[in-house]
Amino acid sequence: MADTEIRKGLAGVVVDTTAISKVNPETNSLLYRGYPVQELAATQPFEAVAYLLWHGELPDAGQLADFRSAERKHRALEDNVRAAIDLIPLEAHPMDEVRTAVSVIGASDPDASGSVLNAGGSPEQNLERSIRLFAALPAIVAYGQRRRRGQDIVAPRDDLDYSANFLWMTFGEVPDPVVVDAFNRSMILYAEHSFNASTFTARVITSTLSDLYSAVVGAIGALKGPLHGGANEAVLHIFDEIGDASNVASWLDRALAEKRKIMGFGHRVYKNGDSRVPTMKTALDTLVEHYGRADVAELYETLEQEFVSRKGIYPNLDYPSGPAYNLIGFDTLTFTPLFVAARVTGWTAHVIEQAGANALIRPLSAYDGVDERHIQI
Ligand code: COA
Repeated sequence: MADTEIRKGLAGVVVDTTAISKVNPETNSLLYRGYPVQELAATQPFEAVAYLLWHGELPDAGQLADFRSAERKHRALEDNVRAAIDLIPLEAHPMDEVRTAVSVIGASDPDASGSVLNAGGSPEQNLERSIRLFAALPAIVAYGQRRRRGQDIVAPRDDLDYSANFLWMTFGEVPDPVVVDAFNRSMILYAEHSFNASTFTARVITSTLSDLYSAVVGAIGALKGPLHGGANEAVLHIFDEIGDASNVASWLDRALAEKRKIMGFGHRVYKNGDSRVPTMKTALDTLVEHYGRADVAELYETLEQEFVSRKGIYPNLDYPSGPAYNLIGFDTLTFTPLFVAARVTGWTAHVIEQAGANALIRPLSAYDGVDERHIQI
């Protein structure tokens, strides 16, 4: 296979069509079902964007109200899910908790786990499963953070919408609208991004006619890595290491000399800037003002200017979202689980799309091991 062209990491390979989102690196734009993500983040609640990703259209008032009441039904952490989380060591990464919790929810759904022959499910069943996971994940993520802090679980509140309830379950306080708005925007920006590594993982699993929960569990595994979702967490470690804006230049000298990757910068698709960053940076700015933390903005901007001027590599969404989640009060370890709670919408939309026009995903490889040989008897 000497003349076979191998595209390491599938870079530049178009493997299928999708009607869910369009990433255009030339214009730095990202559309969900045709709508610019910035417009959605500025005007919509996250529930409406989840509905859009699954149904292809934004909900009208009645559809949004129905969807919100369906979401509220699955908000509380179920006993068996809580029991499974409690078995996980407190030192484990919370992504392991989230992955396990989704697995338990899937195993408790008789339609999905009872028979492999029926595992793929109908589009209606998969939509129901998607709403269930969407609704259940905030309680899982919130409980994880509280458990690590030695705090009791906080039950959901029916009078709060998705984002406000998420923050309520995490912190046990009704959040300020400024914080809810910034958090809601982050959820929308993280919701979907075409054939990224975790979404592609979900599509590969779906292509075998496995069930939606298994696809989401696999996607969570892919998202955990620092080259993908784990980067928002890594950004905070970098901020902690640097400490103060005045240390940026010397820290960067050392980091680049050691050939370190600076987390939160660079992107496989966007080479001139990530379309989601300006919106998230604006949300970060409102949080900086709300919490009176100009030092965070100073460190953010200094590192960005230094790194861009030296390497010409721009920040990705994880760069502003990491410090934003930190200001809201989330533990650094909770950042990637927050990404899961948002991206579960995109993953499941892709599961439904893949299942609707399925072809088993099975690429080829070029063998470069030892030549054929035989056991000497
Ligand atoms: N810090 C330092 N150098 C970086 C870099 C970063 N964050 N991102 C890319 N580069 C450099 C690479 O070292 C490489 O340099 P070289 O050609 O001298 O070897 C060059 O830019 C190309 O990078 P590469 O990793 O091959 O590009 P890619 O398209 O495969 O990578 C990422 C995309 C996201 C994996 C990469 O930018 C990265 O690791 N970023 C940090 C992790 C991160 O923030 N991930 C979240 C993505 S949304």
